[in-house]
Amino acid sequence: MKIPFAESWKIKMIEPIKKSTREQREQWLKEAHYNVFQLKAEQVYIDLLTDSGTGAMSDRQWAELMLGDESYAGATSFYKFEATVQKILGLKYIIPTHQGRAAENVLFSYLVKAGNVIPGNAHFDTTKGHIESRKAHAIDVTTDDAKDTQKEVPFKGNVSLEKLEKVLKENPNNVPFMVLTVTNNTVGGQPVSMKNIKETCTLCHKYNVPVIMDSARFAENAYFIKVREEGYANKSIKEIVREMYADVDAATMSAKKDGIVNMGGFIATNREDWFEGAKLFCIPIEGYVTYGGMSGRDLNALAQGLNENTEFDMLETRIHQVKYLAEKLDEYGIPYQRPAGGHAIFVDADKVLTHVPKEEFPAQTLTCELYLEAGIRGVEVGFMLADRDPETKENRFNGLDLLRLAIPRRVYTDNHMDVIAAALKNVYDRREQITRGVAIEWEAPLMRHFTVKLKRLG
Ligand SMILES: Cc1ncc(COP(=O)(O)O)c(C=O)c1O
Repeated sequence: MKIPFAESWKIKMIEPIKKSTREQREQWLKEAHYNVFQLKAEQVYIDLLTDSGTGAMSDRQWAELMLGDESYAGATSFYKFEATVQKILGLKYIIPTHQGRAAENVLFSYLVKAGNVIPGNAHFDTTKGHIESRKAHAIDVTTDDAKDTQKEVPFKGNVSLEKLEKVLKENPNNVPFMVLTVTNNTVGGQPVSMKNIKETCTLCHKYNVPVIMDSARFAENAYFIKVREEGYANKSIKEIVREMYADVDAATMSAKKDGIVNMGGFIATNREDWFEGAKLFCIPIEGYVTYGGMSGRDLNALAQGLNENTEFDMLETRIHQVKYLAEKLDEYGIPYQRPAGGHAIFVDADKVLTHVPKEEFPAQTLTCELYLEAGIRGVEVGFMLADRDPETKENRFNGLDLLRLAIPRRVYTDNHMDVIAAALKNVYDRREQITRGVAIEWEAPLMRHFTVKLKRLG
């Protein structure tokens, strides 16, 4: 008999979670203005809001916490962290920050000027926020493959070189850098191929434009290159990662994902001028350059997390679980961004709630329905998250409207995946009766999805 797949770790510590009644959830969601960010975590049974900062650290990471050096400047923890990032990414100058958006804030404070144009393969919302708040423009150059959720292509996160070249040609001397996001979170945790990474760098460099890799899920991207791209099956994840970074100019990283820490981030670059420039912003915004918003113990845990999560077995266990959930959804006929991504399943709300008009936010509505069904908290990655166009102030309805079920690393079991799939099936089975969505009662001018207040229609 073939030996079945099992996790490459065992559990040493557990945290109890609680179920609730539908009546309780109706009340809680109403009090939260139909925005799941406003729920209390204890009102949630299975929390798939994000895979960011929600992973379970290993015993070795917890051991590293005890070894943290909390000296203000020049702590041994910083040098351990710096050497690890240099070795794994192959980039020279490293600045720690407290999370990914802080890395963006520090580096973009130095690089972005009003009126600049910054292409990227679906900028993450904080990345877009840091560009647009500086009165610059973020232009999406993702391949059109990503728009069709049912199309099975191995590297749906890729950059469209034609779209990129058009932006570079039309904006001479006005593109301070290009953002290459691995994996491409916004279109479904979809990977970017090594070939596309290299071609993107070559094209940008031809126009004298540097490339910044938004590296939140770089290790998951390397896993997909190993298992899907020709020529990489026999390379280690660490070798693939080094190759991914060989041509890029810098990286910003939210270490809360593939670093498997609860808080952390960094900037890494080969450019001394960027390092010197960013340092000047790091000190007032984040802190002195050898801690940049992180404790010594957290730098230690991050160094350990980066080392262990760039090993094949760890990544295989993780991506296997996401695939397991996807296969359940296949069994029930529920449409999602195919193939399953690295960190999440993105349910295609547009294809599920076909009676809810786009003006009533189908994916946000589906997010509420799933919570009401079984206390499962996903998140809308769609029209609400897309914000309004900064110039026209119109809602941006031109992208995908998805419900993201982000799977925390090393936290839930496959039994939890079964619960999620069954709850979603129950909602799917009554989709024809869901004809009304939600309306905005109050919204912030930028990144409104975190705080928006909604009312339920119908
Ligand atoms: C691709 C990507 N970039 C940047 C960020 C921002 O990172 P952080 O949440 O650590 O500020 C995220 C967070 O989810 C992300 O997914």
